[in-house]
Amino acid sequence: MKQNIIIGLDIGTSSIKMLAATPLEDGTGLEILGFVEEPSFGVRRGVVVNLEEATKAVVVAKNRLESVISKKISEAFISIGGSHLFLATSRGVVAVSRADGQISQEDVDRVLQAAQALSLESNKEILDVIPKEFVVDGVTGIKEVVGMRGVRLESEVLAVCGFTPYIKNLTSVVLASGIEIPNMIPTSLAAAAAVLTPHQKELGVAVLDIGAGTTGLAVFQEGDLLHTAIFPIGSENITNDIAIGLRTEHDAAEQIKKEYGTCMPSRGRKTEKVEMEGAEPVTFTQHFLSHIIEARTKEILQQAQKEIKKVTKHGDLPAGVVLCGGGAKLPKIVDLAKKELKLPVKIGTPHNVVTAQDDTALMTVLGLVIQGTGDYEGGDGIPGIGFTGFLKKVFGVFIP
Ligand SMILES: Nc1ncnc2c1ncn2[C@@H]1O[C@H](COP(=O)(O)OP(=O)(O)OP(=O)(O)O)[C@@H](O)[C@H]1O
Ligand SMILES: [Mg+2]
Repeated sequence: MKQNIIIGLDIGTSSIKMLAATPLEDGTGLEILGFVEEPSFGVRRGVVVNLEEATKAVVVAKNRLESVISKKISEAFISIGGSHLFLATSRGVVAVSRADGQISQEDVDRVLQAAQALSLESNKEILDVIPKEFVVDGVTGIKEVVGMRGVRLESEVLAVCGFTPYIKNLTSVVLASGIEIPNMIPTSLAAAAAVLTPHQKELGVAVLDIGAGTTGLAVFQEGDLLHTAIFPIGSENITNDIAIGLRTEHDAAEQIKKEYGTCMPSRGRKTEKVEMEGAEPVTFTQHFLSHIIEARTKEILQQAQKEIKKVTKHGDLPAGVVLCGGGAKLPKIVDLAKKELKLPVKIGTPHNVVTAQDDTALMTVLGLVIQGTGDYEGGDGIPGIGFTGFLKKVFGVFIP
């Protein structure tokens, strides 16, 4: 039997992650066949700003993954990031087509299509539509509508929209790297697909993906997506603050963050002297370093809290906040987030994936292949994920 290989490609601000996986035969999850991570170039705050540099970097990742899995790669589910992404709500109305009033899949497709008639500025476009609920002859709150009877069918959808030039830049880079794109998924929603369980989504939960240049948030309640937003701030801002605060170079600051960084000031006043090749030795106290990190991490958390409060009653999320992204590797971030958000907080781990990889920075690319499992031809999705096949690709524009 031919093995179905699904590829995820996450072009992040600091690194490109590419992963190959195959659905387990018993349908219970995914097996990882190979994974590579390469430095990213030509990407700023989650968006491609230099096509040539970004293409070169994607080609390097693609070639490496091809040699890891000993197979040619021709298509990949890709993430799209950047604070240009936004959600809009929209409604569509159609008359049920069958004479006996039974609602068919075709009616559902038409009413979702009708809901895409959003008035967007000419440089914005819809990436995905997510059905929220259907209304049949005025009865609201219906999730599964096929087979019901009625005359008037309405749909309420969330449309994920973005800035066309950024979307085009990203697709150009991927296509120029010899990779076709069956579907494109916002980074925050891909991360959610990897780490959130249906139960958490039912209770009310948020995922916070702290990347290098951006932080993505996705909020779920009663099983559905409620809100998503991406802020142009991330762990790279912490590195820059350390570089300024300790008067050192960027690379030294990055190394100090990873080796000595923590989110909550310790009582100890231990002084560290770090010597780095080609740079002046840096001397600092743990206390001072953690103050720098705490201040910026708080800012990121406060932005998330503001967004969560916009869409939930008093910021109430019983299943709390799940952290992922490379920025979530900072020690004590869970404690700081609990204190700031006044919610349960934990580090995200993947579901339904057979892997030793539980690196928080990989959740987006894992989510892409999980999402891809539901999208590939003949795929039924992974039971229990409750997200696969949920986002619907609107345009078939990603295949040249
Ligand atoms: N051990 C660590 N401690 C603290 N920060 C870390 C650690 N490891 C990685 N990071 C930070 O995580 C960031 C990279 O995370 P990630 O790979 O999720 O970002 P990205 O996907 O490239 O960026 P974005 O999602 O913003 O486009 C970097 O800023 C890096 O400094
Ligand atoms: Mg990322």
